[in-house]
Amino acid sequence: MIVESERLNELGNLWEQLEPPEIVAAALDLFGERITIASSFGLEDVALIHMATQVSPGPVDVFCLDTGVLFAETYALLEQFSGSYPIRLRRMVPELSLDAQAERYGAQLWTRDPDLCCKLRKVEPLQRALKGYDAWVTGLRRAQGPTRQGAKAIERDAKHDLYKVNPLVRWSDEELWAYVRSEKVPYNPLHEQGYPSIGCRPCTRAVAPGEDPRAGRWAGFGKTECGLHL
Ligand code: ADX
Ligand code: SF4
Repeated sequence: MIVESERLNELGNLWEQLEPPEIVAAALDLFGERITIASSFGLEDVALIHMATQVSPGPVDVFCLDTGVLFAETYALLEQFSGSYPIRLRRMVPELSLDAQAERYGAQLWTRDPDLCCKLRKVEPLQRALKGYDAWVTGLRRAQGPTRQGAKAIERDAKHDLYKVNPLVRWSDEELWAYVRSEKVPYNPLHEQGYPSIGCRPCTRAVAPGEDPRAGRWAGFGKTECGLHL
């Protein structure tokens, strides 16, 4: 589906005024079956899945980039969601198993070249996950830090040649927590143990209260993004 750039701007301005569940509903309406939710089962993503399944007439398409090194808590939550929510969940696995990656590039590539590791285990599987869709939904929020300031409720994703919908752009941490708690959405227990942002196990550490929420991602590498949103 092609949304003319003028119409995209109009939609962007309109959706900016809506509440996140309304943006999710409008996006499902606009893109029909050709939209999918990207979920790492972080707090944003469980809220988005909840919102979408509340309004979608049929099962909602969701994919998780399963790097093979997610936290046990994340895998447990993924199972819980696939058993209790009306979703069609795809686990996108990298071309190289962990063993094959270790054989080709050496063990624990993430300790030496996290950019290459993210490329192999997240960025390439993302490209496969988005094939055949017109839009994807992500949990990006402006409150997540400087790299997320430019996020819009709906934007063109030129890199992947489709549209990107970010319904939570305007929400603060408090607003997101209030929604998850009031709707009783299941969430990752690690969020209450110092992990505001949860990625792969080897590249995520707990942060101290008041510390930048993304400081726990790729700590010590000067890396703040894995390449999904660049
Ligand atoms: S990341 O780029 O640093 O990993 P972050 O963890 O903040 O991103 O997540 C931002 C959004 O990217 C999530 O809300 C989700 O939509 C998408 N995303 C991140 N990691 C994954 C994953 N492993 N599988 C699917 N979607 C993901
Ligand atoms: Fe590899 Fe770490 Fe990137 Fe996960 S976050 S794909 S382990 S470098």
